[in-house]
Amino acid sequence: MTKLLLRALAGETLPTPPIWMMRQAGRYLPEYRATRAKAGDFLSLCYNPELAAEVTLQPIRRFGFDGAILFADILLVPQALGADLWFVTGEGPRLSTITSAKDFAQLKSVEDIHERLNPIYQTLKILSKELPRETTLIGFAGAPWTVATYMIAGRGTKDQGPAHAFKSTDRATFSVLIDLITEATILYLSAQIEAGAEVVKIFDSWAGSLKGRDFDDFALAPAKRIIAALKERHPSIPVIAFPREAGDRYIGFAKATGADCVALDNSVSSEWAAENVQVDGCVQGNLASGHMVTGGPDLVSEAQRITRSLRGGPHIFNLGHGITPDADPDNVARMIEAVRTA
Ligand code: CP3
Repeated sequence: MTKLLLRALAGETLPTPPIWMMRQAGRYLPEYRATRAKAGDFLSLCYNPELAAEVTLQPIRRFGFDGAILFADILLVPQALGADLWFVTGEGPRLSTITSAKDFAQLKSVEDIHERLNPIYQTLKILSKELPRETTLIGFAGAPWTVATYMIAGRGTKDQGPAHAFKSTDRATFSVLIDLITEATILYLSAQIEAGAEVVKIFDSWAGSLKGRDFDDFALAPAKRIIAALKERHPSIPVIAFPREAGDRYIGFAKATGADCVALDNSVSSEWAAENVQVDGCVQGNLASGHMVTGGPDLVSEAQRITRSLRGGPHIFNLGHGITPDADPDNVARMIEAVRTA
């Protein structure tokens, strides 16, 4: 196995960590904006295999990242289940809401998701042919809790209030929704693997708002179920889990879910993660994405501090969250240089 990213995921401690970035294909790149304009809008870009493959490749050509993440979105799964989905410029996603058992009845059965998601599998097929030999192809999906927060509220929310309210008033129905998304995610990620994804990542962006038993039931348990099902079908597939802002619950998360790697946001220090999380295996992270905007000496010193503090075990260098549209592409090149010379 020569690909650096797969070696780190297999538990190897490397002298220089493999590098990629969340949202590495995005609006901070002029070539992305040009291709998006050609597609018309964001969703048309996601569903156009040639153009989605093109934007996935753009940051690889420009920066030579070790990982290429499929260009798509976590909200394509609710759309494939029958929810309406659209994006409001400058504001974000909007979905038709699911708030009652009656709304569930309107949703499609999980086996039907492939019809809508087929272009995504085509994108992966193109990418497995076109990526450089040393680049690892990463597939992904949203975690059930995070996807549910958007399906229930119909949009992004600061505190996930509507999903928490639903969970408190009718935990049984809420659990049915989580189970449905869990099953759809298993089918979706399996198909991504069959189409060429060499690793898959589960994004639980709002895991941090689940506490105690809720974290066990709705962050940990669904991740465990998805990972077990994927590994039953594809025993050698590595999985990265990202329970963002899980704090202390990062401890033991890999062991409890079977994940091969835990992705860290930047609210935990890399020194703490080395002691408490990396002891169980590979970690990914966790430079604050603001450095991609501000640059300067802090960018270099922070990238090098993180690299050095996680050097004692398997590590994939990444940001703590996605790169933002106001980032300077030159800072990305500076970050890569800093990590490789740390
Ligand atoms: O990382 C990558 O480069 C791969 C592609 C990817 C996108 N979204 C593309 C995208 C991935 C992995 C995602 C995941 C995603 N999508 C998450 C989980 C990770 C996270 O950021 O917490 C979530 C919560 C979403 C839902 C979503 N999609 C939101 C809230 C938004 C609007 C916010 C924004 O940045 O505008 C999107 C849109 C989106 N997804 C864009 C991209 C490149 C911007 C769309 C555009 O070009 O206008």
